[in-house]
Amino acid sequence: MAELYENYSLKKHNTFGIEASAKYFFEFESQNEICDFLDKNNIVDTNYLILGGGSNMLFTEDFDGLVLYPCIKGIEILEEDENTVLLRVGCKEDWDEFVAWCVERNYSGIENLSLIPGVVGASPVQNIGAYGVEVQEVIEKVEAVSIESRSPVTFNKLHCEFDYRNSVFKNEYKNLFIITHVQFRLQKQAQFKVHYGAISEELENYNEVNLKIIREVIIKIRESKLPNHEVLGNAGSFFKNPIVEKEQADKLKAKFEAMPTYEISDFETKIAAGWLIEQCGWKGKQIGNVGVHNDQALVLVNYGNAKGYEVLKLANDIRKSVLFKFGIKLEMEVNAI
Ligand code: EPU
Repeated sequence: MAELYENYSLKKHNTFGIEASAKYFFEFESQNEICDFLDKNNIVDTNYLILGGGSNMLFTEDFDGLVLYPCIKGIEILEEDENTVLLRVGCKEDWDEFVAWCVERNYSGIENLSLIPGVVGASPVQNIGAYGVEVQEVIEKVEAVSIESRSPVTFNKLHCEFDYRNSVFKNEYKNLFIITHVQFRLQKQAQFKVHYGAISEELENYNEVNLKIIREVIIKIRESKLPNHEVLGNAGSFFKNPIVEKEQADKLKAKFEAMPTYEISDFETKIAAGWLIEQCGWKGKQIGNVGVHNDQALVLVNYGNAKGYEVLKLANDIRKSVLFKFGIKLEMEVNAI
């Protein structure tokens, strides 16, 4: 049942665990409920926000508007043949529980994305990725409701303009559509992607490779580096790994031999932001209620009652020092509201 709340606490709705409230908060469980609500309330020109699992959000102050909170659940098999299965998944399904569900049934494609926090509906927005896999590789369609036309729309994959931690839903379509379901095409004959250094090293401790083992290994690696947000508030990688011109990367590499780089094309190189931040002396630093994680400098953490603006201040100080030392502008991966 749909429900509209007033002055609603968002603390449980952001993995940073930051206290902030929303003037209005509308929770709904189906496309019909949201279309109905939009028919009765023209919100196009109001201040509104679509909230998923809150694992990529930083509330810097109270939100004086309307939060739209889709709670559509369910996993449906739309098509199935010898080789593949097409699943339609409700946006509120927990991402990692969905990965576990697939691994359990031997559907492969997303096992490398184990333990990523958040919900299924948010996965296409920033094209979640880890350990050599991006979710765009398995997305076939994204279903949404248009806020303007108040009706359901389906986007095929090409329409989503997926890129590194990016999609059309973060750009031209930002805040225009509420993603309600995602369709994933998964493989029944597993094709393992284990070339990422840390995975292949860890797999040497096993006699065989299967989906369950890959999931186990990924969980182990993530748990060793990334803090659990239920214990220590955080939003995963706070910054994107910067992509710079190859020429600039080559110059830096000549000066800083150990700098981890990944070739993107003949012209562009991606650099590990965590390394840049660590080199500027930030790793493990705590400033008041906020800090830079001990084991992964790309992750900013809330040590207690941090306010969003404190996190933002730390982020800006980090950006300044990386710009000063390396001439690289770090871009935030997290959405600051
Ligand atoms: N590194 C450091 N110091 C650090 C952190 C990293 O020197 O404090 C170095 C590592 O030694 C390694 C390189 O940087 O050589 C890359 O580190 P890592 O493998 O930990 O991955 P990452 O590039 O820092 C990205 C994603 C993560 C994802 C991992 C694994 C982004 C912004 N982040 O991090 O995604 O889990 O790769 O694939 O692309 C997230 O988006 O929230 C997230 C956690």
